[in-house]
Amino acid sequence: MTTPEPLLLSVSGIDKIFPGVKALDGVDFDLRAGEVHALLGENGAGKSTLVKILTGIHGKDKGSIKVLGEEVAFANSAAAREKGIAAIYQEFALATHLDVGTNIFLGRIPNHAWFIADRRQVYQDAQKLLDRLKSGIDAHTRVAELGVGKRQMVEIAKAISMGTRILIMDEPTSALSSEECGHLFQIITDLKQQGIGIIFISHKLDEIHRICDRVSVMRDGRKVGTLDAGDISVPEIIRLMVGREIGDQYYKRDVEKGEVTLEVRGLSDATFLRDISFTVRKGEILGLAGLVGAGRTETAQCLFGVTPIQRGEILVDGKAVRINSPGDAVANGIVMLSEDRKNTGLFLQQSVTFNVTIAAMNAARSRQEYYHLGCVDVGNQRQHTSEYVNRLSIKTPSIDQIMRNLSGGNQQKTILAKWLLVNPRVIIFDEPTRGIDVGAKQEIYRLMHELLQAGMAIIMISSELPEIMALSDRILVISHGRATGVLDRSEATQEKIMTLAVK
Ligand SMILES: Nc1ncnc2c1ncn2[C@@H]1O[C@H](COP(=O)(O)OP(=O)(O)OP(=O)(O)O)[C@@H](O)[C@H]1O
Ligand SMILES: [Mg+2]
Repeated sequence: MTTPEPLLLSVSGIDKIFPGVKALDGVDFDLRAGEVHALLGENGAGKSTLVKILTGIHGKDKGSIKVLGEEVAFANSAAAREKGIAAIYQEFALATHLDVGTNIFLGRIPNHAWFIADRRQVYQDAQKLLDRLKSGIDAHTRVAELGVGKRQMVEIAKAISMGTRILIMDEPTSALSSEECGHLFQIITDLKQQGIGIIFISHKLDEIHRICDRVSVMRDGRKVGTLDAGDISVPEIIRLMVGREIGDQYYKRDVEKGEVTLEVRGLSDATFLRDISFTVRKGEILGLAGLVGAGRTETAQCLFGVTPIQRGEILVDGKAVRINSPGDAVANGIVMLSEDRKNTGLFLQQSVTFNVTIAAMNAARSRQEYYHLGCVDVGNQRQHTSEYVNRLSIKTPSIDQIMRNLSGGNQQKTILAKWLLVNPRVIIFDEPTRGIDVGAKQEIYRLMHELLQAGMAIIMISSELPEIMALSDRILVISHGRATGVLDRSEATQEKIMTLAVK
């Protein structure tokens, strides 16, 4: 019999109360050296809150945390780092204007670092770490020049350089390409071998069996179970998470198609897109497929007036329209749910009500509903917000809650509510289910169906091929800024899409 690995971390009976929400309720959790322990649960279940307590960002109301058997209490994240705990968040904490080497040792570069020799040492040490991760990054590169995947590697290198033994990754793969995910998993395997314990949070359940040893599931602030990953299937994980069967994950039903709502002719931007043409009909989902960087988001940004159009025409209901700003796009009934949560125009310091109604109150097509005799009609504002909070199951103690306090996935749903309220003709969903839990994903697919039934047209960008294939009526494939083909739902296969994607 082998002796079990020592417990790096053991957490018991943790409570955390925010005004109106018991975010954590008697949570137990532990982590062994050299294991990957998945922490799963619906949006708002309490995963990130637990992470923030373990990294000293929030205090706990009750319970105990032991690191290698020793009781600890963290006043701040520096105190947690000292005990070997570090976290990598989706929104990175790097100084983008500085180079990689400086970032890795930021705040720890020795005082006498003005001597050239010591600075050289910093870069040498940083480079060694980066090479160990096979990152292909030069320590002198400015962080601003790196993509998401590489920035994440810098964060990991930084964590290792601090002697981290407990590494927490909160949705690390949600913005990575499948190739970058593969590389990350390789790194995780190496870290395990060095005895580092990893807490891994993700909504992509197919990843669990690839890299995790154990799985803990949370629901409504409680832990509902911990199991060996080998002993549990994905449907069982889902049942634990959601508390019910969700059946067919992708919800797709036939909807009658109408006229062409949106037509794009020969669209080019100043730098990258060349001569893209397509149509979307009433009641139809057009999927945009392609590799990361192929030009899908750029196309959407032209339609939404974020990037100027150099050549080409956009027609809504057969009429040519000019779109020079998002305001123009909204006025013509085109809205976009962008992939980047941080830059989605959420007002994080404002309330849910403010965020849900802001666009509708400013859009000519809907503003009259919110003003009465020249004053803001607060009643209508609140009523519409409540309606959409219910309809999208946005988890918040009240519609007056400050946006910042909502969990990541619930912030995403709020943006969707905001756009639905302007009653658009065409909705562009860019990676609509990123960071969204399985149950809520299905709700979003159902909602798409309702929107189609109500006569809207949908453009959906997704890097998840199964999602694109299950939901799209037609698939437009983009490669190197050009449209390389359109596939009908009935003929689309992964191979055909990939062939067009690399053309
Ligand atoms: N600073 C805060 N103030 C008030 N409420 C908060 C705060 N942080 C989190 N909450 C609430 O605590 C609950 C748990 O949120 P948490 O961010 O931990 O969820 P999560 O499991 O990480 O969800 P997701 O998968 O969407 O990221 C939610 O109801 C959230 O609204
Ligand atoms: Mg979270």
